[in-house]
Amino acid sequence: MKAYRHILAAGLLGMIPLAQAQVDPVKVWAAACANCHGTNGHAQPGMEALAGKDKDEMLQKLLDFKAGRKPATLMHQITKGYTDDELRAISAYFAAQKK
Ligand code: HEC
Repeated sequence: MKAYRHILAAGLLGMIPLAQAQVDPVKVWAAACANCHGTNGHAQPGMEALAGKDKDEMLQKLLDFKAGRKPATLMHQITKGYTDDELRAISAYFAAQKK
C-alpha cells in the first residue's frame, strides 16, 4: 500500500509542470523559438543561444527585427507575430533560463 502512495505522489508531482505550461502563455511562445534556438534557448552549436542573454539587449534585437532595422532572413517575419509586450515577456523568459 505504501508503494502505491509513492507512485501516486510521483504521478501528481509529474503533472504540475504540465498544468503550468497550459496556463503560462510565455512558455507556449518560447516553445515556438525552440525549433531553431533550442529547447529553453539552449541552442545547438552554430545557432544563437537565447538562454541567459541580457533581457533588454534581446528585446532590442527583437524590436529591431520587427521594425526591419536589423537585417534578418527569418526573424523579421517571426517577430511580427508578436506584440511588443509579448516580445518583452519572451525576452524575460529566456534571460531567466540558465545558460
Ligand atoms: C525558423 C527558425 C527560427 C525561429 C522559429 C526563431 N528564430 Fe530567432 N533567429 C533565427 C535566425 C536564422 C536568426 C539570425 C537572423 C536571421 O537571419 O533572421 C535568429 C536570430 C535571433 C536573435 C538575434 C540573436 C543575436 O544575438 O543576434 C534573437 C534574439 C532571436 N532570434 C530570438 C528568437 C525568439 C525569441 C524566437 C521565438 C519567438 C525565435 N528567435 C524564433 C531563426 C529562428
